[in-house]
Amino acid sequence: MKRSLAKLPKCDFVPLKYKGPSYENLKATRRANLSPALTTYYGKPLALNQGYKQWLFDLDGKRYLDMFGGICTVSVGHSHPKITEAVNEQMSTLGHCSNVYYHPKIHQYAEKLAAKLPNKLKVIYFVNSGSEANDLAVLMARCYTRKSDIVSLKNCYHGMTYETMALTCNGYYKYPVPQSPGFFRTMNPDVYRGIWGGQNCRDGPVQTDRVCNCSQECEAGIKYLQQFDEELKYEFPKCGIAAFFAESIQGVGGAVQYPKNYIKGIYNRVSATGGVFVSDEVQTGFGRTGEHFWGFQSHEIEPDIVTMAKGIGNGFPLAAVATTPEIAESLTKAGHFNTFGGNPVSSTVGLAVLDIIEEENLQENSKTVGTHLLVELAKLRELSPFVGDVRGKGLMIGVELVSDKETKIPLDSGRFLKLWETCLENGLIVGKGGLHGNVLRIKPPMCITQEDADFTVDILRDALGKI
Ligand SMILES: Cc1ncc(COP(=O)(O)O)c(C=O)c1O
Repeated sequence: MKRSLAKLPKCDFVPLKYKGPSYENLKATRRANLSPALTTYYGKPLALNQGYKQWLFDLDGKRYLDMFGGICTVSVGHSHPKITEAVNEQMSTLGHCSNVYYHPKIHQYAEKLAAKLPNKLKVIYFVNSGSEANDLAVLMARCYTRKSDIVSLKNCYHGMTYETMALTCNGYYKYPVPQSPGFFRTMNPDVYRGIWGGQNCRDGPVQTDRVCNCSQECEAGIKYLQQFDEELKYEFPKCGIAAFFAESIQGVGGAVQYPKNYIKGIYNRVSATGGVFVSDEVQTGFGRTGEHFWGFQSHEIEPDIVTMAKGIGNGFPLAAVATTPEIAESLTKAGHFNTFGGNPVSSTVGLAVLDIIEEENLQENSKTVGTHLLVELAKLRELSPFVGDVRGKGLMIGVELVSDKETKIPLDSGRFLKLWETCLENGLIVGKGGLHGNVLRIKPPMCITQEDADFTVDILRDALGKI
């Protein structure tokens, strides 16, 4: 019997009527006045007018379930009234003063954010974007260690400023210019696509379908660490590297998870020679992975530096770097200034986001709804010849699509786009990523419900059937 297609879960919110420039007008200005290198999603680009909780409304008022959250950024829901109210109040009191003066909000916020981190990470620097945060972390690591080499993982994404473009390791985001010196990338311990990996490697509800004989320790993890040991011997000075950067789960790279104990092994190796470990929590922070507030907690380490952005501000340009007083001291050799960093309004937003995550139990919701969604998505792997892998934790999820499960050849862009457009037609927005652009990225606002998760699976099942 043919299944009928799921309906969008109910929502009583009525969007405002759109009164702005026409769609054709937006198209023309984008072509004439915005960067030609901008990526624009969908054959007929989607133009949005309003957002409410996990919902987005286009110019005609059509409603979509937003399972991508503005690229993993809308953490507590679109247009959250608590944030709107707090921003209005702050804006009408003091919108900006710069941090050469005392202002209560930056102090309150620094204290509250530091309380969420391990005790040793007491000092917070506020900036405006994830790239800026990682740039600053590179500088800190070098000033503190007095060494220059920085290592990251292949397939990572850490930003697109000149320095972070060198840290990032994905050809799509690299311009053909000399890369900033002192950056190196090591083998990505991808347990689905990499040389090693099996069905016990991941810390998460869904494993790969690769056979593995591990009993006590994850063999894949050990082998990937041995590769890094080789590089330490051959590639770098005996005194070691300045820093190792890693996302707790790769975001843009397609929700890639590493074998258990890999990050801990790297942390121990880097610390042993006086280097620092930087956790990029731009996507994995603020409760998204469900089990913990920070992704690094599941790797059982306490990083020396943590960078954060995206979900920290629910869409407001706010980012931060947290570190130890000792590392912070090394940045006092010169003045450090950032005009907007920790401005009263952005600090107000940051405070409200932390309150909402707590008050609305959003970390717990990420865990329960995310685990349910992962388990249901894994069933699609059994049903569809195109679902090669399902992975992630909480509401940080990737579904890797392939043309052939044996060879893992990425699904061709024609079929991928058809599936993606079918989802959109049916009111579902999901992201895309991975080196080959064949991974569905699911990172919604953390307020989604189980009904939304079931709707997502239904629409994906139908779309998979159409390719
Ligand atoms: C893990 C990670 N780090 C850093 C960045 C850079 O952040 P931004 O775009 O705010 O500069 C991103 C952006 O996608 C990211 O995903």
